[in-house]
Amino acid sequence: MTEKKQFRAIKGTRDILPPDSSLWNWFEQTAREVFESYRFHEIRLPIFEQTDLFARSVGAETDIVSKEMFTFRLAEGFQGSAKDGEQGVPQAGEQVSLRPEATASTMRAYIEHNMQALPGNVKLYSVGPMFRRERPQKGRYRQFYQLNVEVLGQSDAPAIDAELLEMLLVFLKRVGLTRTTLYINSIGDKNCRPQYVELLRAELRKVKNSLGPDSQRRIETNPLRVLDSKLPHEQEIIAKLPRISDHLCAECRAHFAKLKNELKLRGIAYEENWRLVRGLDYYTRTTFEVTAEGLGSQNAVCGGGRYDGLVELLGGPPTKGIGFAIGSDRAILSIEESGNLPVLPGLDVFVAWMGEPTYPAAVAIARKLRDAGLSVELPGEEMKFKKSLNLADKLGARYALVMGSDEVASGTFTLKRLADAEQQKLSEYDLLEYLESEKRGTRG
Ligand code: HAM
Repeated sequence: MTEKKQFRAIKGTRDILPPDSSLWNWFEQTAREVFESYRFHEIRLPIFEQTDLFARSVGAETDIVSKEMFTFRLAEGFQGSAKDGEQGVPQAGEQVSLRPEATASTMRAYIEHNMQALPGNVKLYSVGPMFRRERPQKGRYRQFYQLNVEVLGQSDAPAIDAELLEMLLVFLKRVGLTRTTLYINSIGDKNCRPQYVELLRAELRKVKNSLGPDSQRRIETNPLRVLDSKLPHEQEIIAKLPRISDHLCAECRAHFAKLKNELKLRGIAYEENWRLVRGLDYYTRTTFEVTAEGLGSQNAVCGGGRYDGLVELLGGPPTKGIGFAIGSDRAILSIEESGNLPVLPGLDVFVAWMGEPTYPAAVAIARKLRDAGLSVELPGEEMKFKKSLNLADKLGARYALVMGSDEVASGTFTLKRLADAEQQKLSEYDLLEYLESEKRGTRG
């Protein structure tokens, strides 16, 4: 006999059950509607890619790539589909990783499908799970979900940055996330950042012994990341470090100033945060984050920024780009904590039928109501009316359609509103008419 074994979801992963899943669907559907109103289109991407794609774009030294990826090898015997002379096709033995984020894959797809030939800016969004081996806690999972948005093209006009932020805030407001703060920064570009990083490194070396081991290591690997530190005793030291805003080149300073004007034009409130450097290497100039209430330490619901040159770094044509990703798990958690939940469609009609001769008519009316867009539950076995109504109540049905031999004989239906037990007798035509218009009304 095989041993009885219970299975559990793997640490850091979780099931999203009903009714939460309805909230998730509504959240993602709202995103689609808002994004499409700004002419974004969906791109569906693979869940895993060559590890090197993430190493090159996100950065080999970042926490995400150096510590957090789920990586495995393509089995020996894996057939790459490279044609003669074709480069970059994954081959047997090569390392691949579950995607820790979606920007790298979007860039790969943009290059692979020559999307620079498309008219205007290429505006893409994707929805789906990401994987990072982080220590799980509230709002932090190993499989989590993002709404990822990217704009690619030839222009780096600050208006593009501002419109993207406008769309982000329109979406957050639409889903009821209003108690949020938008932080912005400019981290310079390849002309001014290297000098700043060297200056920062030199200053950090002077205070090295007062810093914790992570920051000490980062002085050499990535000094900007020291600014991200949350360690209480490092805060005072960091506050005295040179700020990038004082070391931007003229172009970056002008870009940032224009961005702020564009935000004012749109009535968008923001706070500048000179320490906002982000944990991914591809950013240049604009960076931003949105925090929300009710989330404890994992309170960033969105992060993003500009990444001009990333497409080129991955072997594509010179391209400007900017994007963001919303962490859906955290955003939904914050909506739930605020108690500001939407009214989502539930079960409209429970068909309470009794008596075998009634059954065919019950099947037929259930089909018609469903065709009319209503959600209908039809029990597969006969139940006493009392039991049916009880179940209808527990399932949260708005109406019970009571069908016994009397109703079938007279060609009418008894419709009972469960909230107040009000009943009416209706012909089939009137029933459909009534429920359809009533449903339209509840949809607002
Ligand atoms: P990111 O800041 O690494 O940026 O992630 C964006 C958001 O994903 C975070 O603000 C957070 O809400 C959510 N998130 C990240 N890690 C976890 C986790 N372990 N559990 C739950 N939620 C998490 C990016 O991923 C960039 N690719 C964004 C971007 C797009 N930049 C330009 N285009």
